[in-house]
Amino acid sequence: MQSFDTVVIGAGAAGLFCAGVAGQLGLKVLLVDHSEKVAEKVRIAGGGRCNFTNRDLDPRAPHKHFLGENPNFCRSALSRYTPQDFIALVQKHAIPFHEKHKGQLFGDRSSEDFIRMLLAECEAGGVTRWQPCKVENIRESASSPHGTDAYRYEIDSDRGVVQARHVVIATGGLSIPKIGATDFGYRVARQFGLRVVEPRPALVPLTFDGEAWAPYAQLAGLALPVVIETGTKKQRMAFQEDLLFTHRGLSGPAVLQISSYWRSGESIRLNLAPEAGLIEALAQAKVSSRKLLVNELAAIVPSRLAEAWVQQDAAWQRPVADTSDKALAALAARLVQWELVPTGSEGYKKAEVTAGGVDTRDLSSQCLESKQPGLYFIGEVVDVTGWLGGYNFQWAWASGHACAQAMAQAQA
Ligand code: FDA
Repeated sequence: MQSFDTVVIGAGAAGLFCAGVAGQLGLKVLLVDHSEKVAEKVRIAGGGRCNFTNRDLDPRAPHKHFLGENPNFCRSALSRYTPQDFIALVQKHAIPFHEKHKGQLFGDRSSEDFIRMLLAECEAGGVTRWQPCKVENIRESASSPHGTDAYRYEIDSDRGVVQARHVVIATGGLSIPKIGATDFGYRVARQFGLRVVEPRPALVPLTFDGEAWAPYAQLAGLALPVVIETGTKKQRMAFQEDLLFTHRGLSGPAVLQISSYWRSGESIRLNLAPEAGLIEALAQAKVSSRKLLVNELAAIVPSRLAEAWVQQDAAWQRPVADTSDKALAALAARLVQWELVPTGSEGYKKAEVTAGGVDTRDLSSQCLESKQPGLYFIGEVVDVTGWLGGYNFQWAWASGHACAQAMAQAQA
């Protein structure tokens, strides 16, 4: 039987990074993935350029950009491995990058640069990689004593049985099953008596009932800046971002962000003209313009939206001067307070991440070790979900780093 200090299961962002750091700290590491290719999500991330971190992340206030049952759980790991630390690594590998909107950092060339970097870091740590390799079972070894130095675990894989002192589960969430997502991590957690917060798709387009959506389906492809919100009082969450109409509903950064907070049955509210003083502009047009209301509206919002909007009420299909104040107020209210109830989402096949996951009450925030000694969970499999914009990768790097450090210390 082969022996390793650490077996990391899942060679995505978190697993690759953790394996490389642990190897460089002197641990003998095996990294296993059931897919032929590593880091498929890094490859497709950020439209192929990988939005690898976010400069706006504030490790002292993680609740601003992360959600989960305990949004402060990630503070310790995020403050010990910051965006600046990862940027330094990217610079060490001479990968060119640039900043986009809202602190988001992207590679200038391709995500492949980051995959090569992660593999080079694994190589520098002498990490053994097996893939594709299927893990069939993880169990506590019956024979060995359970000291910190013991080979506590045995892992059955299709390349044989290995023993390990530490096992790291880095198998991610359920999003995009066609590139290798599985529920493996949740099953392992339950096997060892750990709790799992019900997973759900997040950063995902929202869908609407076909008949109710028919008047808006003609707007598919239209993008515009909006303010979007859901929830009320303390639960209220709002974003100012771009919205995209689709044939089945709504997408774009605004909707992906709000989808992580939206709960089935709740409404979302949209302001489709957040920057315009809509009521004042229409009141002004009423006294000074001979144009149709639709043409005045098209000066404020995109013309396709103006045309679709006025079709909803005959009172809005007149010259603006002949439109009653009540009709103008109703039109403005519907544009700036458009309330609608999604019927669902596009689900895991389109979700960028999975919210929920291994319950943080059963994990150490310092080192990501679970209540089951020697068993760690890192990255997206944990109930920590970041906003769109590089936050999820930063959690993968930071949780992987904290875990690697802790395993090395446990063996020192
Ligand atoms: P990840 O999913 O990366 O890796 C899990 C690995 O485990 C995979 O290699 C998988 O094959 C393997 N695995 C699963 N089950 C297994 C099993 N039973 N046995 C063995 N191996 C198994 N985030 C961000 O910050 N910036 C961005 O630009 C984007 N963009 C983006 C685009 C798209 C389309 C998606 C779907 C997602 C993003 N994300 C993102 C989110 C980001 O990709 C995600 O949060 C991280 O990849 C999570 O890293 P993990 O390593 O935890 O899981």
